[in-house]
Amino acid sequence: MTETIVRPPRLEERGSFYQVYDTGVPNVDQLTFDGFSRWWNRSKVQGDLPTLWRVAVVKDKIVGVAINAVLDSLRWGAIWELVVDQEWRNKGIGTSLVQESERALLKRNPNLTHFVVGVKMHNPRAIPFIERLGYGIQSLVLRLDGDAIATLPERNLDVNIARLDDISTLLHLIPDTYWGHRDHNMLEFSIRGGNCYVMRERSSNTVVGFVRLEYDQEHEDSTVITFSYKPGYGVEVVDAAIEEVATKKAIFWVQDRHEDILDHFYAEGFKKAEAEFVARKRVRNIL
Ligand SMILES: CC(C)(COP(=O)(O)OP(=O)(O)OC[C@H]1O[C@@H](n2cnc3c(N)ncnc32)[C@H](O)[C@@H]1OP(=O)(O)O)[C@@H](O)C(=O)NCCC(=O)NCCS
Repeated sequence: MTETIVRPPRLEERGSFYQVYDTGVPNVDQLTFDGFSRWWNRSKVQGDLPTLWRVAVVKDKIVGVAINAVLDSLRWGAIWELVVDQEWRNKGIGTSLVQESERALLKRNPNLTHFVVGVKMHNPRAIPFIERLGYGIQSLVLRLDGDAIATLPERNLDVNIARLDDISTLLHLIPDTYWGHRDHNMLEFSIRGGNCYVMRERSSNTVVGFVRLEYDQEHEDSTVITFSYKPGYGVEVVDAAIEEVATKKAIFWVQDRHEDILDHFYAEGFKKAEAEFVARKRVRNIL
């Protein structure tokens, strides 16, 4: 059997890491080299590159990559991206990368309760692979794209720029996706980055929503919107969010448990652009 070493990437390996990463498209997120480099640099600064990113190396050549992240507020370790170069598949390298990623995640936060992997819906081949490694599919996250046309005839919500003082209230809201789960640091990071809004019900002055708008270079003329809401106010919050969008298109990621919000998006003409199964495994089942 070919000897494979799994280790953190070296700083000079950014280009070769990206080359292997790119062979995983369309089963991983498509990123330009610039977009990838921003992620790499941010991870370098935050210290995630040596602790959470991994490469599988055969005879000094990178043949597989994994990008991992800890979602501290959920106590989940996420295997965010996983790719083995086509020529090197079915040799056990993907399995080693998952196992080493789990170890790295647990080392970073020994209190994790679950590991999580996202598998694109159009990638059924990867499902038996992760199931064999002890993961089980638990939900679906959908990316919905549509025209950013304001729909509210009359506004019940007041929309204001989010302030750091709002954070303690915002922590009680429900996020759109598992990775949007809020913790104090994440909210502070988002609010300092700008384009974040807090929504209050006008009649009661209660905080009912929080949205963040991102003008992503990967999606031209589109705004990616993440949101969280107080139960019962989801539809009003997404409608108010669309009013803040300055581009032609809006992109939302929504988990399947938010049925009323999904129903509303489909009725407004939004279409599923892609979807991802969320597979989880309890940490105590670590191999
Ligand atoms: C999914 C992916 C990462 C798997 O990587 P891999 O290196 O082929 O994974 P492994 O070799 O460990 O396992 C693949 C299969 O080979 C078999 N296998 C494992 N070790 C083996 C070995 N030494 N010799 C031969 N076959 C082996 C396994 O039984 C497994 O079968 P299964 O998928 O039905 O469970 C790879 O196919 C890939 O990069 N795909 C594109 C990107 C992608 O789908 N990413 C999302 C992953 S969730």
